Amino acid sequence: MKLFMKVPGLLVLTALTVLSCARCHKMESSENAKARKVEEKTFVNPLAIPATLDGVHAAFEAKSGTAQLGSNISVNALGYGGASILGPTIRIRHGEQFDLAFSNGLGEATNIHWHGLEVPAAQDGYPTDVTAPGGSFQYNFLIKNRPGTYWYHPHPDMATASQAWRGLAGFFVVTSPEEESLGLPSGEYDVPLVVQDKRLDGGLTYNPDTDDRSIGMFGESVLVNGTAGPVLEVATRTYRFRLLNGSNARIYNFAFSSGAMFHLIGSDGGLLDAPVAVSSVLLAPGERADVLVNFDGQAVGSELYLQSNAFAGTETQGQQAFYILKFKVMRQESDNTSLPASLMPVEKIPESQSVATRSFNIGHMMQHGGMDGMVMHPIDGKTFDADRRDEVVKAGTVEIWEFDNSAGTETHPMHLHAGQFQVLSRTGGRGAVQPWENGWKDTVLAFPGEKVRIIVRFPNLKGKFVFHCHNLEHEDGGMMLNYEIQ
Ligand code: C2O
Ligand code: CU
Ligand code: CU
Repeated sequence: MKLFMKVPGLLVLTALTVLSCARCHKMESSENAKARKVEEKTFVNPLAIPATLDGVHAAFEAKSGTAQLGSNISVNALGYGGASILGPTIRIRHGEQFDLAFSNGLGEATNIHWHGLEVPAAQDGYPTDVTAPGGSFQYNFLIKNRPGTYWYHPHPDMATASQAWRGLAGFFVVTSPEEESLGLPSGEYDVPLVVQDKRLDGGLTYNPDTDDRSIGMFGESVLVNGTAGPVLEVATRTYRFRLLNGSNARIYNFAFSSGAMFHLIGSDGGLLDAPVAVSSVLLAPGERADVLVNFDGQAVGSELYLQSNAFAGTETQGQQAFYILKFKVMRQESDNTSLPASLMPVEKIPESQSVATRSFNIGHMMQHGGMDGMVMHPIDGKTFDADRRDEVVKAGTVEIWEFDNSAGTETHPMHLHAGQFQVLSRTGGRGAVQPWENGWKDTVLAFPGEKVRIIVRFPNLKGKFVFHCHNLEHEDGGMMLNYEIQ
């Protein structure tokens, strides 16, 4: 809302924007705030694998309950479909119609956003489209996305971070006959891994202080699929791991303690055109990587870890390396998976098709109200307002969007609803598109000093969608704008 001031004789539109204070936070120590350190657990608890749910006729409820995260660790948490934390892995084929009867068994309003999927605006979990406590909603849409790893989580305005933190999230896996014909590891060898840091000292309650609202909520305990100190027993063969960073704010630089290379076969928007050999993959909140890992050559009885390596580029996190998940090699098993030379074509969007370039300043932390020390994380000086139309684009057209964090001091993983994009370039900071940023993406990380350019073809979905920072404290703090597809 703009403020009009009456000055004798003329009307002055001041530059001062009055901001709702619920979106601001005090900044005292925040400038030097650091992510809470990870404390490694002893790795003794069998990794939980979420139940699978056929997306063609699905029904579930969001509910609170007591979750057992490991021996002697139980907390109050939220889950979907009877799970005490997280929710089932929805599986569906490309071209099928997804149908979910959702009921809200929580004591607060909620909704579901289908992260990465191309769905009509009314089904997308727009921040103000919520289901009241005790209410229900029918989700129903056609699966247009390529085979790959997507996910779902709540998206109510100013409560996304709180509900996701307390447990609400799940995998949404799209398959297709073409993918099945590639002979990739399947069944028990196709393992979804959602990595999330939590604070267990307070029992998984969501109570961010001013620093947490500024840099994001970090926890000392890193869970995988809701298991603290997780162990997975494996055989000496190839596995497909679907890595999802489902944390509110923490970035992981995934690698294996053996130092072994592994193959990236998919990113946010599904399968790549061909496997890429990497030794690490850096994922910010919201991002995914599908990887093939071969345990062949590991001795039976040996142990290794999925870990996060230290990384540079941001002051708030990355200083620490830590283990995430222990693998115990239990048995010899031969494997007839051969690495396919090609996976699924990724058609590059030519820059010449772009009809417009929009640049968004995401590197300007805003001080408001003068000296009271309140700060916000705006995009182009604005914070979320459901009633404002920030950008208007045309269905079917191609545009280049730039997220400019050149002057910024924080990391911002920027996410677009309604479709997938391709990363064109990164200048400043790391200075290049990273190997795991190829293929189709829906979330892209901008470190301080970086400007990232993406290219997107807007789908034929008319209506209002959001784009935002996927640091969930930033998102709830208003780092989110509307764009309308016409
Ligand atoms: Cu996964 Cu709008 O978010
Ligand atoms: Cu999304
Ligand atoms: Cu951010």
